[in-house]
Amino acid sequence: MKDSERCRVDLIRLGELGRRGGERVERREQLSMETGLIRVEGSPEIKASKDYLIEKMKEAGLKVRFDPVGNIFGRREGFKASGGAVMAGSHLDSVLNGGMFDGALGVIATLEAVRRMEDEGFQNDRPIEVAVFTGEEGSAFHMVLLGSSVLIGEATYEEGQEIRNDEGVSLREALREQGHVGDFQLDLDDIEYFVELHVEQGPILHNEDIPLGVVENVTGLSWVKAIIRGEENHAGTTPMSMRIDPLVASADIIKFVNRRANELAAESGTTVGTTGRLIVHPGLPNIIPGTVELGIDIRDTNDATKKALIKEVISEITSLEGRYGVRTETEVLFDHKPSALSGVVIGAIKRSAEEVGIRYHMMNSGAGHDAQNIAHRVKTGMIFVPSVGGVSHSPLEWTDWGDIERGVKVLTRTLKNLSAL
Ligand code: GLV
Ligand code: MN
Ligand code: MN
Repeated sequence: MKDSERCRVDLIRLGELGRRGGERVERREQLSMETGLIRVEGSPEIKASKDYLIEKMKEAGLKVRFDPVGNIFGRREGFKASGGAVMAGSHLDSVLNGGMFDGALGVIATLEAVRRMEDEGFQNDRPIEVAVFTGEEGSAFHMVLLGSSVLIGEATYEEGQEIRNDEGVSLREALREQGHVGDFQLDLDDIEYFVELHVEQGPILHNEDIPLGVVENVTGLSWVKAIIRGEENHAGTTPMSMRIDPLVASADIIKFVNRRANELAAESGTTVGTTGRLIVHPGLPNIIPGTVELGIDIRDTNDATKKALIKEVISEITSLEGRYGVRTETEVLFDHKPSALSGVVIGAIKRSAEEVGIRYHMMNSGAGHDAQNIAHRVKTGMIFVPSVGGVSHSPLEWTDWGDIERGVKVLTRTLKNLSAL
């Protein structure tokens, strides 16, 4: 099998795992809003995808280890006696109704880079560590970048294991049942460089017809959870003047988040705010809702602006109490800082792209990535490949196979170059 074919086969196979209906998608024309991927931590589909990957890692000669929160590492030893490793990788979990490349591409591309080194008899001076991070998307356990947050010490292994999904199952229980847990604990002091290849998830590369992005900054990212309680009652018999309706109050917040993010974006160009989760209890047309849960996503490459917006949103939520008579609770579920990536790794990626003759564009990432966490401890870089139409976190996410091959070439060369630094 040709190298590029091997990578394609893996991505297509992983793309079947968690796809509604389980269809095999090889071409963009096969996508529809009905073919989204749901592969969240704790599900049988993530188990199957990790099992597939672990087998491929072993076939590639990697030594596979798990840590207590289910991060997976595959090591290829280096030929130099000392020196930190070069780590690369991404995640296998998806959002609800996502695409087949977000995360999986970075994992398979790294595996493929190692396979190419093996085939060519390339001797890497530094060890290479293939990393698969647990729960990047936060879809089931409501904390994005879960595995990498534990790695950098933002939460302990025990705290990570205790996080529960909506069914009340802890990550510890989910991982144990799936057999994807161990006691290896990676020390980031032993890692010299980290690289994550990812689909851009935005329109810049596609619109400008440039095959590669070299990332300079990754956005800061926070989620605010709000619970708004009113009085559940009969929709037909409760006079309009006697209602305490938390959904009506919530509408103010949805508008507020959108309006303030627009105003700040008009000033800086880097703020985004989204209310993407709205759970209405009990959720029937003939009942005035009793409780509403909102999930709000706030991002900015400027940490101070992001923090200020979080504060404004929380104060706006609290002010509903006076205006509507509701009771409110708010919680900042996490607040990941923006990250400036490493000049050394950026330089290595640019040099590698030039060596293999691939044009690139310098850019920032508006999506969150485990790389932004790892960057707080390790010299880190990111490589982007184009997303057709800038679409991602959608069943219609697509990246052309030729662009994937170009990304894998640059990643492979970058890992080789970093291993020799
Ligand atoms: C993570 O993928 C995010 O950007 O939400
Ligand atoms: Mn994602
Ligand atoms: Mn991702």
